This record gives sequence, structure tokens and C-alpha cells, in this order.
Amino acid sequence: MFGYTRGSVHFRACRAIFDGMSKTLRTSVPLLPSRYGRRIARRCESVLKKNKRIVVTGGAGFLGSHLCERLVDEGHDVICLDNFFTSQKTNVTHLLGRPNFELIRHDVIHPIFLEVDEIYNMACPAAPGHYQYNPVKTTKTSVLGAINTLGMAKRCRAKILQASTSEIYGDPEVHPQPESYRGAVNPIGPRACYDEGKRVAETLFMDYKRMNRVNIRLVRIFNTYGPRMHPFDGRVVSNFIRQALEGEDITIFGDGSQTRSFCYRDDLVEGLIRMMNGPDEFTGPVNLGNPGEYTIKQLAEKIIEITGAKSKLIYQPLPQDDPTRRQPDISLAKEKLRWEPKVPLAEGLQKTIDWFRTIDFEAYRPPTPNY
Ligand SMILES: NC(=O)c1ccc[n+]([C@@H]2O[C@H](COP(=O)([O-])OP(=O)(O)OC[C@H]3O[C@@H](n4cnc5c(N)ncnc54)[C@H](O)[C@@H]3O)[C@@H](O)[C@H]2O)c1
Repeated sequence: MFGYTRGSVHFRACRAIFDGMSKTLRTSVPLLPSRYGRRIARRCESVLKKNKRIVVTGGAGFLGSHLCERLVDEGHDVICLDNFFTSQKTNVTHLLGRPNFELIRHDVIHPIFLEVDEIYNMACPAAPGHYQYNPVKTTKTSVLGAINTLGMAKRCRAKILQASTSEIYGDPEVHPQPESYRGAVNPIGPRACYDEGKRVAETLFMDYKRMNRVNIRLVRIFNTYGPRMHPFDGRVVSNFIRQALEGEDITIFGDGSQTRSFCYRDDLVEGLIRMMNGPDEFTGPVNLGNPGEYTIKQLAEKIIEITGAKSKLIYQPLPQDDPTRRQPDISLAKEKLRWEPKVPLAEGLQKTIDWFRTIDFEAYRPPTPNY
């Protein structure tokens, strides 16, 4: 009776019994002398406290590590799975001493058997330089990673959330992008390993829901930035900040008129948790991002202003299939999750720059060839 996972019929029955118990009975259960009584008491306590066992794949990454931190602080038992392809262990070393945190080196393209209540599937290289490093591996990570984590969710009857991306909209013809827009992705271009991998992952999530009634959530994340971004990941915010702090000129691809929207990591993590804990009927996909739209040139100028750098702007050709505009329509997130970003760009950039000032760039390594 006590091995049931949260959400199973037996577990729900068990919970209903405990919830229905009178207060007197509930307080007297722990006093039962038998081993059986003590086990009831432990289960009762964990149900009442609502702490869950949660897996975060890619949990040592930029977003994953903040998510783990938040869930550990909330008292959940958190298992972080990561192969450290694009991240450093230092992102989670501060959590290693916590009794409710575990770190497992694991590649999500292989199955793993764990007993869990919830899964956040965050594992995937996210920056173009990282995901184009080994494009075949990137597709495997998205597709096999989704199959393996969905298999775990099906077996444990766990809830599972997929970190999808605004890249599934490709170079959009619709602006801003609502979830109903089906996108304009080049399936044979250099970004396709990421964009198409994430699109297939969404398909798999929907098919596991339709076929196996797996309790899923799909979140399409738009550009998010903050402390613990990899300084050499080539993403625009980390690149500009590192160049400014190192006194280098700032490289703009194209003429800088292309736009992006930037969401601070705390806002994004709040959105992920709200989505996971939202009603089961609302599976998404839902856009999470900050609708404030800036040109790349404006972003560079803001970073120069905050850092006080003397950097000049230098222009290089735009990479193939680079989207010209990107801005989320977040009406659905506002309506269903009562979520919207709170941190203004200047404040988020200041916190990110403060963190970048504390790190040693030499300690960060690029992805290694063996992965
Ligand atoms: N940050 C953003 O702006 C953004 C935007 C859209 C989507 N996302 C999605 O959010 C997730 C997290 O992104 P992030 O920005 O934190 O990137 P990140 O690169 O910092 O984190 C990804 C993590 O996944 C791990 N990983 C990669 N391949 C793996 C594998 N095969 N097995 C196990 N672990 C693996 C990496 O080592 C890293 O720790 C990704 O799935 C990404 O696609 C992020």
C-alpha cells in the first residue's frame, strides 16, 4: 500500500481516507505501536505536508539549477539529472549539502528508473553554439529524452512538464506569436536539430497524453536570461555582457534592428511552477516570456550603459535562419495561470551583470567532444 505513487488510484484513495480522518484520530495515528502504524503516520505526514519527489532533467543548467533551488527551498525531494554537457557542477554545489537534493550524472537519451511524482524535462542544449556543436546529439536529446521521461511519467503516473521553446515558431510571419500559430521552421537548416527536435518532443507529449493519459504540461519558453548563464554560450545577453566586461567590442549580427524579448529567470521559474501546479485540464502549450520587445542594438546600448564599458558596436553578417522578430503573446498565461513577468529589463540586466562580475571566465569550458 505504501509504494503507490502520487496520482495513482490507490494513492488517491489513501489520501482521501487520511484527509477524512478526524483531527483526534490523525494525531493518535503516530502513537500506534506497530510498524504498520508508524508507516501510516509517515505517509500521513508526507501527504499533509504535500512534499513531492521531483525530477529535474538538465537540472544543473542555467534554468534547471534555479528551478531545483526553488523546489528544494519549498521542501520537495529534488533529483537533478544532468550530463553536464553545457553546464557546470558549480551551478548546484550549494545544494549538495541539502538533505532533500540529489545529483545524478545521467544522459537522458538513456532510460532511468526512478519513483517520482513530477518531472520537469529541461535537458537540452539551448544556445545555438551549443546545440549546433553536435546536431545529431541535440535531436536525440530532445526526442529520446522526451520518450524516456514520458515513459517514466507513464510508469509512475507522474505529472510531466516539457521545456519547449519559442524556436518552434521558426522565423515567424505572425507577430506577436500566439500558441495557435504553427510556425515557419526550415526543417533542413542548421537550427533544425533544435527546432524540429523540440517540435517532435511536443508531438510525443501530446501522443502520450492521448494514448496513455499521461498528465502533461507544455511550456514554450522565450529568451530568458539571468545569473548562471554560460558566459561562452553565444547567446546575445551573455555575449554582450562578457564582451563589455572584458573591454572588447560588442558583436552584433545583422544591422541590430532584429528584435527579441527578454524574460528574467525568476519570472520564468515562477511560470514553470505555476504551470506544473495548474489544473490538469490545461496542458498548454503556453507561451512564457516577457512581451517587452527590444532591438538587439538597444540591448547592446543598455548593457554598455549599465557596465560603463567603452566598447564599440561592430557588425557581422546575420546567421542563416536567424528570426527577425520574436515576441510572445502571453494572453493565455495571464488568463490560465495568472502569470506575467514582473522584473523590468534594466533591473534584470543589473542583477545578471553583477553576477557576471563575480565569476572567473577561465573556469568555464566549452562543450566537450565526447558527448
Ligand atoms: N533560456 C532560454 O532562453 C530558453 C528558451 C527556450 C527554451 N529553453 C529550454 O529550457 C531548457 C533549459 O535551458 P537553459 O537555458 O537552462 O540551457 P542550459 O544549456 O543552461 O541547460 C540545459 C541543461 O541540460 C543538460 N543536458 C543537455 N543535454 C543533456 C542530455 N543529453 N542529458 C542530460 N542532460 C543534458 C546540460 O548539461 C544543461 O545542464 C532547455 O530545454 C531549453 O531548450 C530555454
